[in-house]
Amino acid sequence: MASAPSVSRLVVIIILINVGAISDTTIIVAASAATGLLSSPIQLERKALLATGWWVNIWATGNHTSDPCKWTGISCNSAGSVIGVNLLRYENDNIKGELGRFNFSCFPNLKSFKIHSNYLLSGSIPSEIAAVSMLQTLELPSNNLTGIIPSAMGRLRNLVHLDLSDNYIWGYIPPTLGRLSKLENLNLSSNGLDGIIPSEMGRWRNLVHLDLSDNFLWGYIPPTLGRLSKLENLHLSSNSLVGNIPSTIGHLTQLTTFAIASNHINVSIPLEIGNLNFLQVLDLSRNEIGGSIPSTLGHLKRLRSLDLSYNKLVGPIPSSVGHLTQLTTFYMHSNLINGSIPLEIGNLNFLQVLDLFDNKLEGPIPSTIASLVNLTSLSLDYNNLTGSIPSMLGRLNRLTDLGLSENKLVGPIPSSLGHLTQLTTLSMDNNKLDGPIPQELMNCSKLGELRLGNNLLSGSIPSEIGKLKELYYLDLNHNFINGKIPPQLGEIPRIVTVDLSMNNLSGSIPESVINVPDLDLSGNNFEVEIPNTSANAPSPQQSEGNKDKHKKTTTRLVAIILPMAAFLTLIFGIMFVRRRRDKKVEPAETGEITKCADEFAIWNYDGRITFQDMIEATEDFHIKYCIGTGGYGSVYRARLPSGKVVALKKLHRSETEELASLESFRNEARLLSQIRHRNIVKLYGFCLHEKCMFLIYEYMEMGSLFCVLRTDEEAVGLDWAKRVNIVKGMAHALSYLHHDCTPPIVHRDISSNNILLNLELEAFVADFGVARLLNFDSSNRTLLAGTYGYIAPELAYTMIVTEKSDVYSFGVVALEVLMGKHPGELLSSLSSSLDKNIKLIDLLDPRLSPPVDQKIWQDIILVSTVAFSCLRSQPKSRPTMQLVSNEFIARNKTPMQKPFQEISILELRNQEMYLVD
Ligand SMILES: *[C@@H]1O[C@H](CO)[C@@H](O)[C@H](O)[C@H]1NC(C)=O
Ligand SMILES: *[C@@H]1O[C@H](CO)[C@@H](O)[C@H](O)[C@H]1NC(C)=O
Ligand SMILES: *[C@@H]1O[C@H](CO)[C@@H](O)[C@H](O)[C@H]1NC(C)=O
Ligand SMILES: *[C@@H]1O[C@H](CO)[C@@H](O)[C@H](O)[C@H]1NC(C)=O
Ligand SMILES: *[C@@H]1O[C@H](CO)[C@@H](O)[C@H](O)[C@H]1NC(C)=O
Ligand SMILES: *[C@@H]1O[C@H](CO)[C@@H](O)[C@H](O)[C@H]1NC(C)=O
Ligand SMILES: *[C@@H]1O[C@H](CO)[C@@H](O)[C@H](O)[C@H]1NC(C)=O
Repeated sequence: MASAPSVSRLVVIIILINVGAISDTTIIVAASAATGLLSSPIQLERKALLATGWWVNIWATGNHTSDPCKWTGISCNSAGSVIGVNLLRYENDNIKGELGRFNFSCFPNLKSFKIHSNYLLSGSIPSEIAAVSMLQTLELPSNNLTGIIPSAMGRLRNLVHLDLSDNYIWGYIPPTLGRLSKLENLNLSSNGLDGIIPSEMGRWRNLVHLDLSDNFLWGYIPPTLGRLSKLENLHLSSNSLVGNIPSTIGHLTQLTTFAIASNHINVSIPLEIGNLNFLQVLDLSRNEIGGSIPSTLGHLKRLRSLDLSYNKLVGPIPSSVGHLTQLTTFYMHSNLINGSIPLEIGNLNFLQVLDLFDNKLEGPIPSTIASLVNLTSLSLDYNNLTGSIPSMLGRLNRLTDLGLSENKLVGPIPSSLGHLTQLTTLSMDNNKLDGPIPQELMNCSKLGELRLGNNLLSGSIPSEIGKLKELYYLDLNHNFINGKIPPQLGEIPRIVTVDLSMNNLSGSIPESVINVPDLDLSGNNFEVEIPNTSANAPSPQQSEGNKDKHKKTTTRLVAIILPMAAFLTLIFGIMFVRRRRDKKVEPAETGEITKCADEFAIWNYDGRITFQDMIEATEDFHIKYCIGTGGYGSVYRARLPSGKVVALKKLHRSETEELASLESFRNEARLLSQIRHRNIVKLYGFCLHEKCMFLIYEYMEMGSLFCVLRTDEEAVGLDWAKRVNIVKGMAHALSYLHHDCTPPIVHRDISSNNILLNLELEAFVADFGVARLLNFDSSNRTLLAGTYGYIAPELAYTMIVTEKSDVYSFGVVALEVLMGKHPGELLSSLSSSLDKNIKLIDLLDPRLSPPVDQKIWQDIILVSTVAFSCLRSQPKSRPTMQLVSNEFIARNKTPMQKPFQEISILELRNQEMYLVD
């Protein structure tokens, strides 16, 4: 027995030599054993450092015998024991792989562990970390850490700085963290944390910076928040917090930043907010805050940035805001604020942005606004403002944006606005402004957008308009403008859209103007007719004729920029990746999930689903319950003990796709938990755990529209009335996403695969995995997403997300519903040469007999007309989903006079619908 240890050591060494695989670690073990130093704590530390492989360069350069205390990022105490591992971004690219490679139990003296590693560290936080009782600083921001925060971390009583931000950590915030009473910095932002904010937070008496933003936290903000009397920064934005801002916030007298944007706070702003003497930044935007703005807000004399936009605030703007003399940005748009704009607003000398649009403000624009000489953006659009435009606004010569649209302003456009030489956007449409367009306005040489439509303007278009070299959008529709169109207008290099419809313009139309890509000259008195054109527009001289139809469709821009074939290739190339992934089935993955335990979170449901129910209902995700596999997951059918059937989407977790699918999961859970519409699939709950991620939805008995249309028996069951209903349902859902959600949501992957049908064959929009919020403040550019065959052409070269790309995809699906199959080549012929002889009736799904009912025919004509307008190649000329949805609700246009059998596709496409009005 006594000789056993040496024998086994010998065996180990022999084996290593035989295979020739000598790793750094092994040699150290052997060497230490030989010199008898194995038990020295310092040797243990050295060994543990080498075992990570993070200092491998040191080994390779022959410096392995050197003192670890001299290695990059390592610091030691005088005894030579490691007290700090501090590596900032880019300092050491070898730091990668699992965090668990670092054996924390070997470093009893460690005080600081900071690795800002540029997304190189993965794995979860080992609970062994709790053994490092000296630890004061733990900073691991911007890595790929997953798993939960071990509750044992509550034992790190000396912790002062804890930063785990920008990782993929999930689960709840363990209440044991409340024991970390020395904490000064706590940053857990940008993770997948859910659950509530523990009331134990009140014990962080030394906390100065707290950032929990961008997680899935829900429930109320604990009133114990008020005990954090040293707090300076409080960030809770982008969660699902509800209820009120506790009045105890008034105790946080050191607070300089308070941001709780994008939550569901729905109680009025507490008066106590006025106690926050040091507050510089206050962001309460994108909640459901009601009530009026407390006048105590005026006490925040140091405030620089105030954002109350996208709430339900009522009542007037308190005149006390005039005390906020340090304010540089003031956002209050999209509320229900009434009363007049207080004169005191003129005291805010440093103000650069004043956004009050989309409220119910009345009365005149106070001329005191003219003293805000630092303003770069002034938006008062969509209110009920009256009186005339103060000519003193001409003093605001730093303005780049001036928005006064949709008010009840009267009188002339002051010529003083010509001093605003930095202006890029000037919107005054939909008012009652009269008089001429002042020539001085043509001095605003940076103007890109000029919107003066729907007023009472008269006189002619100044020929100096050619000086507006940057102009791309000109809207003068519905005025009394007369005279000729100056040819200089068409010569402006960047001009794209010109809407001069419904005026008294006359004379001939200059050749240069004909070439403007998006042109509307209808409702004037020109001498010639402009025919409907497509890619090869005939010149106006070729057709003389009646005076009322001066209209031109707008399909040419795309053809000019990029040949159709080129961008189809481009789309195909990019989309191939996603489609290939769609096809992959992962049977091996099913059955391996064993526990998800307490990580199960339930939103918006009666709370009766448990994780165990889901496991039992699917026999641990048995393949026999699998009803489909999509881009990011497999879908199972699960019958709960109550008898209710739900659909369960389990996300793929293959190694390479892991983080992408977590991203898509977060996206879908967050979006769907916040929206409600009868044509959007309901989310009942979700489960987020290291081993499994799934979402639970309302079950759709008939599966996807795609499958129904491809199965003959089912397709026949989908009669014309039901098909029309499906298209209507989709239109309402998309209109809701685009126009009733703030910020608007773009689905980005509308296809027949993602439209689900219930037993009544009603449509539900599903799969929000790649959906996007359209933000006012962030870039809308993104990678291309979607399904080949449904993607709007412009996305191939702009990569800018707009609602109009969903509109296009909707058009494709609408046609697909009528045709019973994907419209395929018809789509590309729409942008070039469309055969005049194709009749609507020839397109209809041959598996159904043509409709006999007159009403159904009218509906089909409407659906196809709408579909063709949605497929216009230029996004701007597609209708909004709101318009489409309204069109379906109230249809009062006169029916077509022709027999249905004779209606051609070309006629439907040339319908004037949406081009005017
Ligand atoms: C090895 O380490 C010493 C200091 O410990 C340093 O001066 C030397 O440049 C290192 N050698 C290499 C090749 O990195
Ligand atoms: C970490 O080090 C301790 C003490 O040397 C040891 O007992 C333990 O097995 C190590 N853990 C790992 C995962 O290597
Ligand atoms: C970390 O995650 C990002 C985002 O998913 C990924 O691009 C990156 O490759 C990951 N890093 C490592 C080292 O795996
Ligand atoms: C928290 O971390 C995020 C991401 O690492 C960072 O952007 C943010 O500024 C930090 N918050 C605070 C209050 O320092
Ligand atoms: C405009 O802002 C600057 C600082 O950007 C400030 O110095 C100046 O006083 C402000 N103008 C007025 C009229 O207050
Ligand atoms: C403007 O006032 C009228 C009544 O004067 C009211 O009907 C309308 O809703 C108001 N519009 C807005 C945007 O407040
Ligand atoms: C993004 O799109 C939205 C909606 O169309 C728009 O309001 C916003 O200004 C856009 N943001 C940027 C930065 O372009």
